[in-house]
Amino acid sequence: MGTRPSIIVASSVLAADFSRLAAEVHKMEQSGADWLHFDIMDGSFVPTITFGSQMVSALRKHTRLPIDAHLMVMHPETMIEEFALAGADYITIHQESTVHIHRVLTSIIKMGKKAGISIIPSTPAGMLLDILHMVDIVLVMTVNPGFGGQTIIEECLRKVEYLSEMKKRLGYRYLIQVDGGINSDTRERVVRAGAEVLVAGSAIFKAEKPELEIKLLKEGE
Ligand code: DX5
Ligand code: ZN
Repeated sequence: MGTRPSIIVASSVLAADFSRLAAEVHKMEQSGADWLHFDIMDGSFVPTITFGSQMVSALRKHTRLPIDAHLMVMHPETMIEEFALAGADYITIHQESTVHIHRVLTSIIKMGKKAGISIIPSTPAGMLLDILHMVDIVLVMTVNPGFGGQTIIEECLRKVEYLSEMKKRLGYRYLIQVDGGINSDTRERVVRAGAEVLVAGSAIFKAEKPELEIKLLKEGE
């Protein structure tokens, strides 16, 4: 019997009640979430506007959990320092959002933060080959970003399998993260494909018992 992979659950505050975010963060911490996932959206890279680094600094003092900032913004190079200073632990940029990805990832690393790279459903995972050695997270979007509560795009799992294979073959350290439509039903398929960090918003915040949903995400049925 192979050992079960240890799965990290990153609870996305996108699905939280924005009028009481500190209480929602405390609830996530008590429910067993491993990370807090902040979906930063600028209304340009994606149609929605959510919140910026001020939200990270406001909630930083309310939790000891790692803060995972997912920058769905154009030109993230203009805001790496503010997210680092705000207390984000992981800063993930989109491959599609800036020209000089290597330079931006280097700036995240130089700020002492863990660097992530994310791709939308239409971007091949092969586009990341020359920077995989640098990153701590590869985030495969399993929906078209901008909205919570969407249905998983199954064909994105081929990219998870590819990245899992490359990680083994090249001996790289990155964690494979998936985001969008992740719940206790889709969990088995994404973990089997090689996902190690599961971002979930609706599944957790809409659950009667968030602690049970998080347990199911972590351990499976
Ligand atoms: C991009 C966002 C969402 C969110 C998770 O749109 O990144 O994917 O984190 O949304 P759920 O878990 O509600 O599908
Ligand atoms: Zn996200």
